[in-house]
Amino acid sequence: MKFFIDTANLDQIEEAQALGVLDGVTTNPSLMAKEGITGKENILNHYRNICEIVAGDISAEVIGTSFEEMIKEGEELAALHPQIVVKIPMIKDGVKAIKYFSDKGIKTNCTLIFSCGQALLAAKAGATYVSPFIGRLDDVSTDGLLLIDEIRRVYDNYGFETQILAASVRHTMHVVNCAKIGADVMTGPLSAIEGLLRHPLTDNGLKKFLEDARSMQV
Ligand code: G3P
Repeated sequence: MKFFIDTANLDQIEEAQALGVLDGVTTNPSLMAKEGITGKENILNHYRNICEIVAGDISAEVIGTSFEEMIKEGEELAALHPQIVVKIPMIKDGVKAIKYFSDKGIKTNCTLIFSCGQALLAAKAGATYVSPFIGRLDDVSTDGLLLIDEIRRVYDNYGFETQILAASVRHTMHVVNCAKIGADVMTGPLSAIEGLLRHPLTDNGLKKFLEDARSMQV
């Protein structure tokens, strides 16, 4: 299972990278805006900086919603760095754009996936990744994990190579359950990744081991 961090914050990306378990980064316009990045050149530069920190796939989202706009923006983003994955929303022109990029060998991440049918369509168009938003489904009393399970079954039935990138992950149990179901990738905040290492019995056990080691005066 690949671990991506879902942020545009360079400090958090560096911290996750330092842990040694990071496989990539996902961003979206809201995450970029949160960092206070303004102006096209600064935005493009920020993506370049992320690519310098992490040696994996980095999703950069298009803002246009017409086929022509998405192609223009996507080509510009893909030319920035070989690690860039063009993130495209699940809309009609988005599906056409995914097919266009797939035919050209440019990686894509189809975002804002909330149904199995949408995931099927994205896979048919040749998306590299599909991003079901599990936390946002949970927010409206719909089990996001069930969607991951459904997509896994459909993709396995037909051998689709599109990778299931569980997005909108909010906490450690999302990560663990996605791993049990067989999501190819999860993208979440640093807190969800670091949360995996915490257990009070580990802390208590280490404390006792260190006390006993000190009593031996080694
Ligand atoms: O990158 C998209 C997705 O992960 C957003 O997560 O927490 O805003 O629902 P969230």
